[in-house]
Amino acid sequence: MKINKIVFIAMLFFLDAAKAQPLVPTPPMGWMTWNYFGENINEQIIKEMADAMVISGMSNAGYKYIMIDDGWQGGRDNKNNMIPDVKKFPSGIKNLADYIHSKGMKLGIYSDAAQLTCAGYTASLGFEEQDAKTFASWGIDYLKYDYCHAPEDSVTAKIRYKKMADALKKSGRDIVFSICEWGVRKPWLWAANVGGQLWRTTYDIRDSWKSMMSILDINAELNNYAAPGRWNDPDMLIVGLNGNKGPSGDLGGIGCTDVEYKSNMSLWCMMAAPLIATNDVRTMSSATKEILLNKELIAINQDIAGVHAKRIKLENGIEIFIKPLMNNDTAIAILNRNETKQTVEIKFSQIGLQRKYILRDVIQHNLAGISDKWKGEIQNHETKVFRLKPNNKK
Ligand code: GLA
Repeated sequence: MKINKIVFIAMLFFLDAAKAQPLVPTPPMGWMTWNYFGENINEQIIKEMADAMVISGMSNAGYKYIMIDDGWQGGRDNKNNMIPDVKKFPSGIKNLADYIHSKGMKLGIYSDAAQLTCAGYTASLGFEEQDAKTFASWGIDYLKYDYCHAPEDSVTAKIRYKKMADALKKSGRDIVFSICEWGVRKPWLWAANVGGQLWRTTYDIRDSWKSMMSILDINAELNNYAAPGRWNDPDMLIVGLNGNKGPSGDLGGIGCTDVEYKSNMSLWCMMAAPLIATNDVRTMSSATKEILLNKELIAINQDIAGVHAKRIKLENGIEIFIKPLMNNDTAIAILNRNETKQTVEIKFSQIGLQRKYILRDVIQHNLAGISDKWKGEIQNHETKVFRLKPNNKK
């Protein structure tokens, strides 16, 4: 009897814990249409991309969400149900979702908290419950909810985002809610409370080093606001865009070097950012593939402790990022923002790490020594990343 009671209480505890499991316990990973295709999307492209995600190993590595960004909408039918553009999506979104799910992936879609989206398509204001039900009936797993054409004040923003978050909760399907008001109203302070799992912290990323660094400077300071189930979103990865002329090419988005793209991947992993690729996965080069599929970096991003790295700026254009991981491991990244190569020496005690560590270089994939410091050269715009394990041997 007594044992039965204990088993019963334990079961209740586990049921409760299962219920409490957040929708995205680790940062969501996937691929999004916007930066490469803009509005020029259709079901064929998206199916091909899903196939490429599987063939290239992206899906297996964790990039599970395929997100349709702006430009899919075809208005509303005579019952006010949202419908896709029939030229772009002749088989309908449900059919596409079934295809994506059959590949073991998930489907995301896009709308906006006003009457029109940023690119001027039909949006969800006033139809939140109806649209959430439509999305659920199609099998949608993720909604990016933008804020173009909406009032500037944060009171209205909170009301409009909560309205859609509540509608999604009532829709009968688990749908991740991604808040996209570009960090203007400090969403890190309220987005999780109104029902968001992630929130953009900045305006749109462009395919340039300058844009990457300006986004880094905003997002890096927000480390205290991220936790399992709630993430700062510094926008998509630009890895592999290589100066493409889509939206990523606006405002001087001329492309980056592979060293810079590696920094993009490394820094986003350290900041526990969503990893949303946006390059053409069907034709990506082996260099791009190697960057996006760096499993040791992905493991740092997906570590279940869910910590967004703390940044320490040294005075000489060198920045250090420290991310505590499970099992007493720590990831550290060292970024050289200078235009020239630098020799850097970091004593770990300087950054609060008091022991000797086994250092694994997760970019080179090799052992980088057992030490209480690291000294080496870092190219301009390069980021070194190490996984440190306390060295327990005498
Ligand atoms: C905004 C968002 C982008 C993209 C476009 C679509 O600019 O910030 O990420 O969704 O709208 O129009």
